[in-house]
Amino acid sequence: MSNVILIGFMGSGKTTVGLRLSYRLKRVVEDTDKLIEKKENKSISEIFSTNGEDAFRKMETDCLRELLSFKQERIISTGGGLPIRRENHALLRKLGTVVYLQISPACVWERLKNDTQRPLLQCENPLHKIQELLSERVSFYEEAADIVIDVDGKNMEQVLAEITEKLEACGCIEGGTENEDFSD
Ligand code: S3P
Repeated sequence: MSNVILIGFMGSGKTTVGLRLSYRLKRVVEDTDKLIEKKENKSISEIFSTNGEDAFRKMETDCLRELLSFKQERIISTGGGLPIRRENHALLRKLGTVVYLQISPACVWERLKNDTQRPLLQCENPLHKIQELLSERVSFYEEAADIVIDVDGKNMEQVLAEITEKLEACGCIEGGTENEDFSD
């Protein structure tokens, strides 16, 4: 199944990149957090506070399994912690090409310092938490990835151009997407 799956830390731009790629490649976009919220009829924050993180991680694995039953090729953005479960790596591999949006702790902090939606960052020292989580997770992201894109200091157009170039180079998508209208 040749989906394009976006992984990476919170704030790396997976959701926005997913939307822009879906427009550019004319594919439906899915987001694991949104699918889980819809299924549970709760926000991610509510799921963390009522069901707990472990239950959420199981929901992420179930969500990947469900995505495998979708016939059409899609763009899939994922929650930042999804690759920390090794069993998810095999599911990601079955789903398609995995693109890792690599970001530094400083850049995450810059983007998320005022965030209230990420339960893991609602703590006394969110910058420290970002540094800690990111260093724990880097090897999982790298292991799961087919393509790595460094997003630090790059704008959306640069990131999209790099992703499409690499997807074309590995034969995951066909060329000829350069006519996209960037006016939005
Ligand atoms: C999480 C990232 C979030 C969301 C949840 C847990 C994480 O998604 O799945 O808050 O563990 O990194 P985003 O990466 O889209 O923020």
